[in-house]
Amino acid sequence: MDALRDSIFGKLADRLEPPAVTVENSTRSFQFYGDNARLFDYKMGEVILSGPADTGKTIACLQDLHTLCLTFPGLQAAMIRQTYKSIASSCFESFVKKVVPGGVVRVRGGDLRPEQIVYPNGSVIWIGGMDNPDKVLSSERDVVYINQAEELGLKSYEYITTRANGRAGNMPGFLILGDCNPGPPTHWILKREKAGKLTRLVSTHRDNPEIYDPLTGVITEGGKIRLQSLSGLTGSNLDRLYKGLWVSPEGAIYELFRTEPTVDGQPAHVVTPFPIPSHWPRIVGIDPQGAFTAAVWLAFDPGSGVLYLYREYMEPFGKSTPDHVQEIIKLSKGESIFYWAGGGPTENQARVDFLNAGIPLMKPEVTDVWAGIDRVNQLLKSNALYIFSNCEGILGEIGDYRRIIGADGSVTDKIHNKETYHLLDGLRYAVIPLTSTFETIGIEDLAENYRIGADY
Ligand SMILES: Nc1ncnc2c1ncn2[C@@H]1O[C@H](COP(=O)(O)OP(=O)(O)O)[C@@H](O)[C@H]1O
Ligand SMILES: [Mg+2]
Repeated sequence: MDALRDSIFGKLADRLEPPAVTVENSTRSFQFYGDNARLFDYKMGEVILSGPADTGKTIACLQDLHTLCLTFPGLQAAMIRQTYKSIASSCFESFVKKVVPGGVVRVRGGDLRPEQIVYPNGSVIWIGGMDNPDKVLSSERDVVYINQAEELGLKSYEYITTRANGRAGNMPGFLILGDCNPGPPTHWILKREKAGKLTRLVSTHRDNPEIYDPLTGVITEGGKIRLQSLSGLTGSNLDRLYKGLWVSPEGAIYELFRTEPTVDGQPAHVVTPFPIPSHWPRIVGIDPQGAFTAAVWLAFDPGSGVLYLYREYMEPFGKSTPDHVQEIIKLSKGESIFYWAGGGPTENQARVDFLNAGIPLMKPEVTDVWAGIDRVNQLLKSNALYIFSNCEGILGEIGDYRRIIGADGSVTDKIHNKETYHLLDGLRYAVIPLTSTFETIGIEDLAENYRIGADY
């Protein structure tokens, strides 16, 4: 019996390494375990707690945020999710109900439209969504907590890094902390971790004391029910939310896209950047309007008939059209762009604005989204389209681009969050003129007809 107990406690001791962190509130105290506890060691930089659903990631982040607000009077913090609506209903509610003791903070805007959480010591947490980032990030922040960081595109994340950079000055340095469920294997969170810019901690169900008893390591009655409902999920939801794996979503639109070569010798669609020979014709696809203006550059290797996507541009709407155009032209300096394609069927005004600012944006002759997607898929299938590995924005979009799954589990033909894939829209616009005409009139003719000068 003793041996058994020793072995159980021995194992437990292993599991509790690093030691649990206790955080005292005036009304309750939380204990944190595993990587949820390690989060509190990070006082500076970028750190994201990643893991399946219900492991205690959000509670740990919120507690960390609260502790920092108490520690550093006058702290300028932010609590952000992809959309304002989603943060107001989920995370904000957990914060006021579970983390901060009643009466300690004031909520500006009220519980229904919370804008700021104000502490007696002058610390403030701004609440907002990346669908309206100017408000929540109107000036420098010491700490930003991103809830469900996997929902953000790389550009939104990078925008946050420009606002939390150490200049706010109410604590030493800056901290960007976040939680996420696993996304696709091409996700920027994994890339940024690999590049050494971000620390990713891994939280598991064992770290949630409501699911596994922290002393005995035994699953609780409530835990059984909670894990049962997660284990009943299917497909990528099961993999991501129960097992914590980074996998492609159901209904993936570019499911042919490979980040790695296959064992039977099919190459990856991602390639290491190389200098593009100056005589290769190039085409730029532009998504001119929306929350972001986006552009992708494709170069055509006349020798092999292969296209390379070698550059991307994505900047928030808010810059003027001439600013975007100047930036895109600057990036294209010295390159022979023979065609600028872009805008949806209704975006004629955007095309006129682009033309007036210096880029003759042509309306794609095929406007159906699925027809464009089909052409990109054809190119992928025939190994005729490769993407430079440094184009992280579009790689992230590709991994997440998917159809909406209906309530009965069927795959619909509607695209999930369709309006957020700006770079992929640019890619569709760019391949349409290439795949429609170059067989019939030849890419050289296109170059003759549409080249607008190689000497930008
Ligand atoms: N360390 C903890 N102590 C007490 N309860 C916890 C702890 N971690 C998680 N919980 C409970 O589990 C619930 C789910 O945690 P949450 O942080 O929302 O999970 P996740 O963000 O990983 O999906 C919380 O609302 C809380 O009731
Ligand atoms: Mg959560």
